[in-house]
Amino acid sequence: MLIEWTDSLLVGHQRIDSDHKALVIMINRLHEAILSETGRATISEIIHFLAEQTYRHFMFEEWLMITNEFPGAQEHLTLHRSLVDELDALLYSMEMAPDDALLEAVTFFESWFVTHVVCEDLQLGRYLSERERERERAAAVSAPPPS
Ligand SMILES: [Fe+2]
Ligand SMILES: [Fe+2]
Repeated sequence: MLIEWTDSLLVGHQRIDSDHKALVIMINRLHEAILSETGRATISEIIHFLAEQTYRHFMFEEWLMITNEFPGAQEHLTLHRSLVDELDALLYSMEMAPDDALLEAVTFFESWFVTHVVCEDLQLGRYLSERERERERAAAVSAPPPS
């Protein structure tokens, strides 16, 4: 297992955490497929699936950041853009030189996941949890007193 899921990876937002868990499962599956020398077509399928899930996940986080006025949105979006550029380049090199690109693919997914989630998504998760608590406090204050 390349990445072990532990609670230290939780960012505190249900959908972000479930996306992250699904990504970890697929990154580990990719790693195992490469170690066990599974056919290239299957490995390529996993990589393309992971890429698709990564793009969708980034779009969802970006929507959350914008709709919740996350102060670190610009920096976070820039980091997503540079990961997307790297991922696009990786998919391109898979077409050109698939053998060299396989290990590069595992390394890419592992390192973006571990560094980005722990450093950046955690801050977003904390901010969103705080916003949620504020909304709950505001709703409690404006609620009519129990009769
Ligand atoms: Fe994320
Ligand atoms: Fe992110």
